[in-house]
Amino acid sequence: SQQHTLAIGLEGIAVAETDLSLVDGLNGLLVYRGHWARDLAINHTFEEVAHLLWYGHLPNEQELAELKGKLNENRELPDHVKRILDLIPAEVDMMSVLRTGVSALGSADYSWPPTLDQVISLTAKMPTIVAYRYARLNGREPQEPNPALDHTANYLYMLKGQEPNPAHVRALDAYLILTQEHGMNASTFSGRVVSSTQSDLISSITAAIGALKGPLHGGAPSEVTEMIEAIGTKENAEPWMRAKLEKGERLMGFGHRVYKTVDPRATALRVVASQLSGDDPWFDLATHVEQVGLKLLEEYKPGRKLNTNVEFFAAAVMRAVGLDDTLFTPTFAVSRVVGWSAHILEQAKNNRIIRPQSNYTGPMPK
Ligand code: CMC
Repeated sequence: SQQHTLAIGLEGIAVAETDLSLVDGLNGLLVYRGHWARDLAINHTFEEVAHLLWYGHLPNEQELAELKGKLNENRELPDHVKRILDLIPAEVDMMSVLRTGVSALGSADYSWPPTLDQVISLTAKMPTIVAYRYARLNGREPQEPNPALDHTANYLYMLKGQEPNPAHVRALDAYLILTQEHGMNASTFSGRVVSSTQSDLISSITAAIGALKGPLHGGAPSEVTEMIEAIGTKENAEPWMRAKLEKGERLMGFGHRVYKTVDPRATALRVVASQLSGDDPWFDLATHVEQVGLKLLEEYKPGRKLNTNVEFFAAAVMRAVGLDDTLFTPTFAVSRVVGWSAHILEQAKNNRIIRPQSNYTGPMPK
């Protein structure tokens, strides 16, 4: 039978041209539309960087005010979505709840082609879904969004039920900016594939959420904290990690398909986490685990160029701002929806259905 070029895992294959971001894995560089992501994280806010990705430029004062206003108007969840969230049993994980909550928004207001208004409306609602569920699980009455607060502050406010600490808002904002966009990763690709069929925005984003959930993509940070908790003491780091590698298992928070050098997001988040953590023994242990992990990976996987990835320090930042493990990957989704939707808008501008091939290796009928 006819054989097509085979690229298992699509490694090294480009499936689109994009103006959104450059992920240079050899040199450890990350650029969003002509700006270093690191500088954006230090000098700008969630809304400003979202504006850059969606509209193509950083906003002036008026544009920023307009975007903030639109996000504010769209934070509340329709009643039926709240009722659906309340029906989901407590043991169902938060990513499944987020996927269901987004799905429950339906397609009528989000039909193809995707628009900026649709994208803003959905981005505004994702934190509310997570916070609504989190409050219910913790036996609290869900907090209504506060129109006086910006996106990141609002998220922390709704999660905790009180005005957030400004240092926590700043740190979480930096994390959310650094994870808004990252080229053709698995979840973004999933979203673009669905959108390329001219399906609605909600269907595309639920597909992306499903892809992000897996531990080889966005599901790793909670496994990083589990690993550090299981290790427990500095002395135990080497024997524990060695035992894992002896069994052929992976160390979470290390390695990346694209970065064959330090992940620039990890470098930036290390600084943010260490500023917040002070002399927190957990952070001290995490830094030690990182060093031992890098040394052992060099020994067990020489030449594979395995480094610390974004998830390692994402865990540290989220822990330092008081988010528990169940919120790590959902918070990643709350930021990445910006990149997903920017890609979906870009796909729609010049759409061609994404439809690759497979090579049949089974028998022919007799
Ligand atoms: N621990 C131990 N060995 C590893 C690890 C790791 N974390 N990552 C890769 N390797 C080894 C792997 O076993 C393979 O060895 P060999 O050559 O002997 O077969 C080699 O390195 C190449 O690995 P690969 O699976 O071909 O690499 P990939 O590009 O398919 O996978 C990855 C990339 C991120 C899925 C992988 O590095 C991994 O599983 N890391 C742990 C999970 C993790 O931290 N995920 C978060 C990723 S960053 C967030 C994001 O951008 O989504």
